[in-house]
Amino acid sequence: MCGSRGSWRAPKELGIGVIGLGDIANTHLEAYRRLGLAVVAGADIDPGRAEGARARWGLPHVFAGPDAARQLCARPEVDVVDITVPHYREWRLPVVLEVARAGLPMQVQKPMAQTYAEAEELVGAAEAAGVPFRVNQNSVFVPAFRAVRQELLDGGIGRPYYYQIENRGLWAMDHPHFGRRQRWIIADMAVHHFALVQDWFGPPSTVAAMGARDPSQPRLSGENLGVVTLRYADGLQGLIINNWSYRGSRLRAHAQEEIVIQGERGAITATSREVEVASLQPQTVRHPEVTGAWFPDAFGASMLEFLTALSEGRPPACHGRDNLGVIAVIEAAYRSMAEGGRPVALREITGRDAA
Ligand SMILES: NC(=O)c1ccc[n+]([C@@H]2O[C@H](COP(=O)([O-])OP(=O)(O)OC[C@H]3O[C@@H](n4cnc5c(N)ncnc54)[C@H](O)[C@@H]3O)[C@@H](O)[C@H]2O)c1
Repeated sequence: MCGSRGSWRAPKELGIGVIGLGDIANTHLEAYRRLGLAVVAGADIDPGRAEGARARWGLPHVFAGPDAARQLCARPEVDVVDITVPHYREWRLPVVLEVARAGLPMQVQKPMAQTYAEAEELVGAAEAAGVPFRVNQNSVFVPAFRAVRQELLDGGIGRPYYYQIENRGLWAMDHPHFGRRQRWIIADMAVHHFALVQDWFGPPSTVAAMGARDPSQPRLSGENLGVVTLRYADGLQGLIINNWSYRGSRLRAHAQEEIVIQGERGAITATSREVEVASLQPQTVRHPEVTGAWFPDAFGASMLEFLTALSEGRPPACHGRDNLGVIAVIEAAYRSMAEGGRPVALREITGRDAA
């Protein structure tokens, strides 16, 4: 299925309209330019941002002001909408409803939403309108992480029994909205890792978490240190650390987080730039080839997957309903934190057993 205007055209012929021409939109536009994707329009409520994007990226049609999203959707060249407005409900929901009303397929930036209830609302709105809806969960499309996925599929390290992902850096920027809400690093940043491990291992059955806030940053409202453990029905266990309050010099900052996956017959160690695969029998160490980086290549690969899915008439990877599983992990982590680290079953959030 596809939006009424773009059905069955080749992926690179589908016209992209970008709503929200802020910081991360520049990474999207850079990535799309490198891949030769057709960006036909942009919109932002802020005239300065709109004009800046027109000048920098030469967008054919740019709309500014409170009605900009509706105007963009009305352009006949727009087949697909890329929503990069922040994920807080009061900003994102009106834009998603506008695009749904126009009957256009859309993707939204990660995280889909800050809470499970808000994410269900977005998925429900798109489904009610019958439009394809997905999340630009770009971690899933990082070239090195695709190579890890292939190694897992090939099965060389045997059955995985443990993984860990660690991000260790400092976020001390006085940002207009990041860190200003009650939920911060787990909802907004660990979501990259939750999506990645969902892609690799499927949904966990229980989630437990602890969080902390760096007391030296009084303007932060949310936690900037989150430690989450995930347990799976087949016995796999994982640990995801997002420590964005580290003042030392031994960094593993985003996008250089370190990933370790241990299996019965070997181990994978990776960052977004390189992958090492160690096997036990025979004892070997390999480095699968990795071409490209997280920024901006993963953003281009993510959009290309969406366009290809639309063109082929199949559901895209990271579609909204699938991504509800990722948001359920976020919700479970905050519930666990609020209840002293109690392991929270995912079915407490979703109302059903893991697939
Ligand atoms: N690695 C990543 O994938 C990554 C990195 C950074 C940010 N993000 C996500 O991207 C989103 C945006 O972050 P950002 O840093 O670019 O924010 P930003 O504030 O710099 O940009 C958002 C833009 O949206 C515009 N906007 C808001 N409401 C609008 C509306 N109704 N119509 C048109 N424009 C509207 C704002 O004016 C602003 O220019 C967030 O959800 C964030 O989590 C993802």
